[in-house]
Amino acid sequence: MVATSVEDIRLQLRSWPEVEEYLKRSKGVIVPLGSTEQHGPTGAIGTDALTAEAVALEVGRRTGVLVTPAQAFGMAEHHLGFAGTMSLQPSTLLAVMHDLVLSLARHGFERIYVINGHGGNIATCKAAFAQAYGTAASRGLPNAGALRCKLANWFMAPEAMNLARELYGDKEGHHATPSEIAITLQLEPSLLSKQRPLPDPAPAGPIHGPEDFRRRHPDGRMGSDPSLATAEHGARFLDVSAAALAKDLERFLGEPAS
Ligand code: NI
Repeated sequence: MVATSVEDIRLQLRSWPEVEEYLKRSKGVIVPLGSTEQHGPTGAIGTDALTAEAVALEVGRRTGVLVTPAQAFGMAEHHLGFAGTMSLQPSTLLAVMHDLVLSLARHGFERIYVINGHGGNIATCKAAFAQAYGTAASRGLPNAGALRCKLANWFMAPEAMNLARELYGDKEGHHATPSEIAITLQLEPSLLSKQRPLPDPAPAGPIHGPEDFRRRHPDGRMGSDPSLATAEHGARFLDVSAAALAKDLERFLGEPAS
């Protein structure tokens, strides 16, 4: 795989003959998966979608693998107590991811690499993969046996977690984290004006429904101090997570189907 331009790997900008051509040399595709949910008193609602897409485009640029449009809505039921959050129920997200995988598999894509920006999507996305394998087989897709899906959470790449620990210590927290906010500051300079010092956050704890979440975490943060984030940090997080995921993607593409 060779580094290329972002324009070249955006599925949105390709024609169908170009995609057919691409499939002759690669069966890999990257699907960014985010969420549209509150990110504390200063963070952007679109943080998880913005970060997942930015990491995905950078991984695509470094590997030459096509990147689909971002699935910007995820499973954010527990954030619905805060204005602006838009959530898919787990069963809805499962159906969406299942259908997207099946659409891609039908054309001959066999390695579907989902770059995720939101912890709340993980369980449902893996369930969608399990269901998609079954459907691909029952529909008799010729490549059903070769179909592989993989979930890659950029914020859980060891390199990204190490950098977060180094920069923020225990102020990284669990939601509206400085690492993800840093990437949004790098991508969208208009967000810099929202940064301000914040009081100590509510600690992380169990997650139940939206009312309980708001009671436990009144400003939306879980143990995090996003005021520590800078755009320069964001560039570093993008670089280390894209490098880690690009390597992981190359391994995934190289795995034999059987
Ligand atoms: Ni987030």
